[in-house]
Amino acid sequence: MHRTPDHTNDVAEVLIPEPVLQAKVAELGARLSIDYAGRPLTLVSVLKGSLPFMADLMRAMTIPLTIDLMEVSSYGGAVTETSGLVRILKDLSKTIEGKDVLIVEDIIDTGLTLNYLVRYLRGKNPASLRICTLLDKPARRLVEIDIDYRGFTIPDRFVVGYGLDYGEFYRNLPYIGVLKPEVYGAA
Ligand code: IMP
Ligand code: MG
Repeated sequence: MHRTPDHTNDVAEVLIPEPVLQAKVAELGARLSIDYAGRPLTLVSVLKGSLPFMADLMRAMTIPLTIDLMEVSSYGGAVTETSGLVRILKDLSKTIEGKDVLIVEDIIDTGLTLNYLVRYLRGKNPASLRICTLLDKPARRLVEIDIDYRGFTIPDRFVVGYGLDYGEFYRNLPYIGVLKPEVYGAA
């Protein structure tokens, strides 16, 4: 990124305002608390984009749970594209064998990252494995993914905020927004 990000002037449009996000997270947390009642759950979140969602979702859940964190990165491609080749930068810190596991994701775009992750985690023999994503961008899907819990379906636009970045910035915007075209061009 060759210019200094400017939270006040770079945002073209707010797609999902903060109260709408928070209401959805509360709703998902309540549903998950019912669905996993009596089954201690392990939330596996994927750094760094899922951090705010994970932090809010776990506090919206009223059942006992543990968390673990992975970090993956896709090889190559432009900043706004993913290549499908996934590298594990940080692995699970504890075994998930025999555990009920829920993957907590920020966004599913092509689905390539999650497709890799699901196969990787299934190989560790969890008792169950489901997917919860805040955002679903189905327009660009390349592999079929069964999404068990979904916050919002969004159009094919590159979004930032609430964990999602452009050139590593804008993750701390409290809403989901779209940047001005000239900002995307300047990376
Ligand atoms: P996929 O492998 O194409 O599904 O991409 C998943 C990853 O790409 C996400 O976890 C994000 O890190 C990133 N990504 C995809 N779409 C967006 C977007 O609109 N804004 C920011 N990051 C995105
Ligand atoms: Mg990312």
